[in-house]
Amino acid sequence: MNPNKIKQDFPVFSEKPELVYLDNAATSQKPEAVIKAVEDFYREKNSNIGRGLYELATEATKAYEESRETAADFIGAEKDEIVFVRNTTEAENLLAHSTDFEGDIVLSEMAHHSEQLPWRRKAEQEEKEINYLETEDGEISVESAKQMIDEDTGLVAFSHISNVFGERNEVEKITEIAHENDALVVLDAAQSAPHRPLDVDDLNVDFMCFSGHKMLGPSGTGVLYGKKHRLEELRPYQVGGGMIKSVKKDDVKYSEVPQRFEAGTPNIAGVVGLAEAIYYLEEIGMENVHEHGKRLSNRIIEDLRQIEGVKVLSSQGANLVSFTCRDVHPHDVAELLNQKGVAVRAGNHCAQPQMDSLGISGTTRASPYIYNTEEEVERLVEGVKEALEVFQ
Ligand SMILES: Cc1ncc(COP(=O)(O)O)c(C=O)c1O
Repeated sequence: MNPNKIKQDFPVFSEKPELVYLDNAATSQKPEAVIKAVEDFYREKNSNIGRGLYELATEATKAYEESRETAADFIGAEKDEIVFVRNTTEAENLLAHSTDFEGDIVLSEMAHHSEQLPWRRKAEQEEKEINYLETEDGEISVESAKQMIDEDTGLVAFSHISNVFGERNEVEKITEIAHENDALVVLDAAQSAPHRPLDVDDLNVDFMCFSGHKMLGPSGTGVLYGKKHRLEELRPYQVGGGMIKSVKKDDVKYSEVPQRFEAGTPNIAGVVGLAEAIYYLEEIGMENVHEHGKRLSNRIIEDLRQIEGVKVLSSQGANLVSFTCRDVHPHDVAELLNQKGVAVRAGNHCAQPQMDSLGISGTTRASPYIYNTEEEVERLVEGVKEALEVFQ
C-alpha cells in the first residue's frame, strides 16, 4: 500500500499540505468517498427510514439496512446482531443500562473512561463490587484475570487495544476465563476495529463496540455488536418511535432486535458514510492497514528510544506510541510539535486510573494511520528532539 497515494483521497491534506496528522486514535480523517457518500445521501435519497411507503423512503431504508449488512460482514457477524449507535461511549452506556445479570463486575485499570464509568455507575446503583484487571507491560495481565474472575463475576468489560499503549490484549484467553465462570464479556474495540481484521466468532465475546469516526467514518456513528440471543435478553435503552411493534394505552410491544435499540431517527446519512468507510478500508485490506500501522509505530518506537530522556511506554507491535520526555509536560511537547505542524495528543487519554498506576499525569501519544508516511515519522522524531532541547 502506498500512503502517499492514499493521502490524495483525503481533502484535508490538500487543504493543509504541511499537516502531519498523528492523532488518529482520537479520530481519523475522512476520504472523499465518505464525504461524497454522506452528501449524495442528502442530495439523492434523503428521507426518514422504516416509516414512509413512498419510493424515496424505501431507497433510504435500503441504504441504511445495506449499511448494517456491511458493518456485520466487517466483523463476521449477522445483520441482526448490529445496532447502530452514536459511538463507543453510547454503546457502553446502552449495555450498562440494559443488561441484567447476577454477580460483580470486572473492569481493567487501563480502561478508557467510556468503558469504565457506565459500569461503575451500574455497580453503584445495584451495589455490585468492581475489581480491576492489572496492566503488565502495556497489556492486561492474564494472571490477574485468573485471580480476579471467579464464580462471583457477572460481567467482564475490557478493551481489545488500549488507547494508552496501543497493544493488543489477549482477548481469547480473558474471554475463556470469563465464560468458564459464566460471566458476560463486553469488548471495547474502539482502537482495534480501525486497525486489524476482526471476527466475532474467533473473539467469542458477547458484546463488542466501536466508533465509526476512528475508522474514516463520520462522527456520530458507531456499532454495537451483540450475539443475537444476548441482544434479545436486553431491556430497551431508549424508548420512542421506530422501536415498537404496537402501542396501546395499556400495552407496548417492542420491535425485534436490533431495531428495538434504535429509538428515534438515527444518523442515517452518517451510517451510509460509515459503510463507505468500511468499503474503503476493505479495498486496502485490513491486513495491510494493520501492517502499515505497526511498521510506522515500530519505527517511531525505535527512533524515540534513541533520544536521551524519552521513555516509550508502548512496545513493538503496538499501533500507537505513548511516550514521556523527562519532566517536560506532555502538553508542552504537543504544543511544540504543533508549531512544527505535527498533530499529536497529550494528556491522560481519558484513562486517569491507568495514569495513577503509572505514577504520571499523562503522556504524549502519536497514532499513525493509513495516510501517514516514513517522512512524517521523521518530522515527529525531529520535533521531539527539538522540544527536549528547548526545555533543557
Ligand atoms: C479504547 C477507547 N474506548 C472508548 C473510546 C470512546 O470513543 P468515543 O468517544 O467515540 O465514544 C475511545 C476514544 O478514544 C477509546 O480509545
